[in-house]
Amino acid sequence: MLICLCNGISERKIRQLAREGASSWREVARGCGAGASCGGCRRAVDGLIREVRSELEAVEPTSASAFADDSIAPSPA
Ligand code: FES
Repeated sequence: MLICLCNGISERKIRQLAREGASSWREVARGCGAGASCGGCRRAVDGLIREVRSELEAVEPTSASAFADDSIAPSPA
């Protein structure tokens, strides 16, 4: 599905950039142009970024939250 009609950018491309680390519509715009023209898709782009980050966080908790559990903390050297 196209998210950015001005530049013909798909949801798939935006999700890919978010998985690769894009954290704002501006970063997505730098990567593919989505959001760089009329701006009508920026909220949708930001929403997709939030979705992808939530999905990644559910699969791969940050190291900070992983080490909150003492049972998996590294042993002292
Ligand atoms: S719809 Fe994305 S910049 Fe216009």
